[in-house]
Amino acid sequence: MDRYAIVMAAGKGSRMKSLDEFHSKVSYPILGRALVKYVIEAVKPLNPKEIVTIVGFGGEKTKKIVQDDSKVVWQTTLDGTGHAVLQTKEILQNRKGATIVLCGDTPLITTETLQNLFKKFEKDGDSATILTTVMEKPAGYGRIVREEKSKKILAIKEDKDCNELEKYIEEVNTGIYVFDNELLFKYLNQITPNNAQHEYYLTDVISLMVNDNKQVGAYILEDAEEVFGINDRVQLSYAAKVIRKRVNKKLMLSGVSMEDPDTTYISPDVEIGQDTVILPFTTITGKSKIGHSNLIGPNCYIQNSIIGNNNHVIASYLFDTTIGDNNEVGPFTKTRANTIIGNNCRVGNFVELKNAIFDNGVKCAHLSYIGDSNVGEATNIGCMSVTANYDGVNKSHTDIGKHCFVGSGTILVSPIKMDDQSFSAAGSVITKDICYDELAITRPEQKNIAGGYTKIRNKALSKKEKK
Ligand code: UD1
Ligand code: MG
Repeated sequence: MDRYAIVMAAGKGSRMKSLDEFHSKVSYPILGRALVKYVIEAVKPLNPKEIVTIVGFGGEKTKKIVQDDSKVVWQTTLDGTGHAVLQTKEILQNRKGATIVLCGDTPLITTETLQNLFKKFEKDGDSATILTTVMEKPAGYGRIVREEKSKKILAIKEDKDCNELEKYIEEVNTGIYVFDNELLFKYLNQITPNNAQHEYYLTDVISLMVNDNKQVGAYILEDAEEVFGINDRVQLSYAAKVIRKRVNKKLMLSGVSMEDPDTTYISPDVEIGQDTVILPFTTITGKSKIGHSNLIGPNCYIQNSIIGNNNHVIASYLFDTTIGDNNEVGPFTKTRANTIIGNNCRVGNFVELKNAIFDNGVKCAHLSYIGDSNVGEATNIGCMSVTANYDGVNKSHTDIGKHCFVGSGTILVSPIKMDDQSFSAAGSVITKDICYDELAITRPEQKNIAGGYTKIRNKALSKKEKK
């Protein structure tokens, strides 16, 4: 049976209290991934032929997040969940199969639960199967109204439309369902906004089906946490904690060590190889991929970076960086803007690399800034060396060859080139290219003055006495 998925994500989220009035609720991130993306990632393994996301409030932001994985339709007035689903009519209405409807603000939902819901729908031959759960405090949720004796589902009653007795029902609608697709649209076309909220309720499809003798079933979810919806930032932080624990557990079970998973923040999109050890207060997000047998942390922030094997990265910030194998990085290294580090390099304390390419065996161990540069194999960059790559308007390139020696405190005023096996003397300001086998030195010659120490000292002391 063909499967389709509809993700409702048009709602406003005013309780997030953002200054940005176009910040859609479902675009808030957890570990660098937007809420709605969690829902889409959970449904993707069920291979739906079509995923359609309904956007509305702050829709431009939501659209950017989902458009690679799903079709996007707009709901311009928020007239209820039934009205929302109707916006997918043009794409889905006449197709045969089963359609799952999901909410974009429930990031904890798992593929396994969605799979079980589909299985139940298919096995029982239902026209609709509702994912329900039992809550001690069901206020706010739609209640599952069942016939007293047979327990047959009759309707979903919204909280605001329940009578006193119905308010005691503890089985609630989670807002996730699988429908026979053609019947879904048949009955959606019949719903009206005659209810307490004057909205088109998707839930009214259930009673319309029952009145037409269609079979409606439920799959009762044991762990209500999976359908925890995000409405404010306290709930956002709660869900973040749950997701962090899940991600860390999965990684640890696959062979990654974490000294303190409670202070280790890894996005679900990140891959990490076996025997890599992550030390506390480390965050790894974006499209990062880490190989095996690395030691990372403590105190690292790694984003959109690829790290090979057997590296040691300590207390460093790496953005958009690729690192090979067997490197020593940090502490207090910052790399960014497509920096590439080969193998067996040392990038050390207080070193910033920006759009720099280091070939194998390069050493840049202390207090340097290397930007817009290529550095050849086995070159040594001495302490406090700087590429002066910006003239206030333009960025220029620095090319340093193989086996070079950049003396401590060299300033390379770019554009500039050092050929292979060239040498800059410590403290030099290099403004002309250095050729193969040359030594460039630009500092004035040293003059030593006999008795100079005493002379200077006495001058300083007599100045003090006069005061
Ligand atoms: C809905 C269900 C309720 C269920 C609850 C579970 C209906 C009528 N009620 O209620 O039975 O217990 O979810 O959380 O469906 N949305 C749109 N467009 C709209 C309205 C909502 O896209 O016009 C989206 C929201 O962004 C959200 C989802 O639909 O992702 C649910 O909407 P919400 O307003 O939270 O519905 P509830 O009143 O909580
Ligand atoms: Mg809700």
